[in-house]
Amino acid sequence: MKKWKYGCALFLAVCVAASIIGTDPYRIADAFSRLGQGPDFLYKWKDVPNVQGEQDFTPGAQWKDEEGNLIQAHGGQVQYMEVPDENGRKKKQYVWIGENKSTGHFGNCFAVYTSDDLYHWECRGDVLRSIASWQQLTEDPYFTELYKGCSQEELKEIFSCIHAQAVMERPKMLYNAATDQYVIWFHSDDATSKNTYKYDVGMAGVAVSDSPFGPFRFLHRQRLSQCPKGEIDCYPFSKGEARDLNLFQDRDQTAYIVYTSENNKTLYISRLNESYTDLCTDPENAVSGKDFMRLFPGAMREAPVLIRGENGRYYLMSSSTTGWMSNQARVWSADSIFGTWQNDGNPCIGVGANVTFDSQSTCLFRAENGQWIYYGDRWNAKDLADSRYIWLPVQFAGERLTISWKERWRWEEP
Ligand code: DGJ
Repeated sequence: MKKWKYGCALFLAVCVAASIIGTDPYRIADAFSRLGQGPDFLYKWKDVPNVQGEQDFTPGAQWKDEEGNLIQAHGGQVQYMEVPDENGRKKKQYVWIGENKSTGHFGNCFAVYTSDDLYHWECRGDVLRSIASWQQLTEDPYFTELYKGCSQEELKEIFSCIHAQAVMERPKMLYNAATDQYVIWFHSDDATSKNTYKYDVGMAGVAVSDSPFGPFRFLHRQRLSQCPKGEIDCYPFSKGEARDLNLFQDRDQTAYIVYTSENNKTLYISRLNESYTDLCTDPENAVSGKDFMRLFPGAMREAPVLIRGENGRYYLMSSSTTGWMSNQARVWSADSIFGTWQNDGNPCIGVGANVTFDSQSTCLFRAENGQWIYYGDRWNAKDLADSRYIWLPVQFAGERLTISWKERWRWEEP
């Protein structure tokens, strides 16, 4: 009798664990490695200094712009690029784009900051604004100028995609030299409710501007590549989804979008067209291995970041999927974008490694001196505006990309 009870209890426990973790081998491995780390699973850096140093990075501290406001550039991207100065001449600066979450769950838009030294950031304002009301879209000169010439139908579509309660996350920007335009791609989703998000649209939004400082004009949103015939779709109910996403521009200027799809179960990389405003081939006609690639089916990865190291190798970092909570990162690497991706495991080293030092990946970028920097978000679900930034030095040990914790550090001397 007792054995029977223990058997039932064990069966129930396995069912509960399987429903939380899933049956994917990567997820099971991640879950066990988290448990194996004991307290790391719940690791929170409570003792970080509250304020960012004047001349250093202080991962997890509050980071303010030159006007003393918290930097609002979450889920974003940093890059060293040419931008126009006051006289329209081009100069190189660091440009940081991200989600402005100063209004919490509602009214998100994308802000841009610039810097000469990576420590001090000037706010250049909101470059892609969401729309508070139909009246604002049709009467406010900011929007009437931006969308002049649009039909009623087009205006309705724009309003439904970027109204103030729509989800707009993870903006990434590229400069296209051929069109001399800046292009933003972002996760565009359904309306927020009071305290939470709904994510049932799962699309990628695109916006363009002549300047990195905007205003960006929303173009469209769309579903992306689909599970090729003959492969098992992990979420056949909703084809071509795009949620957390990132952009990558290769040395030959070919650009790619990397994104989580199939209800966050599978990553995809798709090649963009020459203007970077659409896929190179529409999903119906796209050829797997040439126009796009479906990666790690069922692995449940999000927050993808794709880079190419100086050694020529491609690295794809991502997080697991636990909402605003941090989890274990993983890196895959390959010799070519549509080649064979090798699982390099967790890039993080030391205490906190199994929860990515309590952060979620959003960007890997190269500073002027060649130093690669990891930038992750330490989300604060209770007060999203006060989510923190974790910037850490990246090392390349042979072919392996690694990240270690530093309480304070300077990029000139990592
Ligand atoms: C994790 C994603 O990476 C974030 O961008 C955000 O969508 C949260 N999930 C919401 O729970």
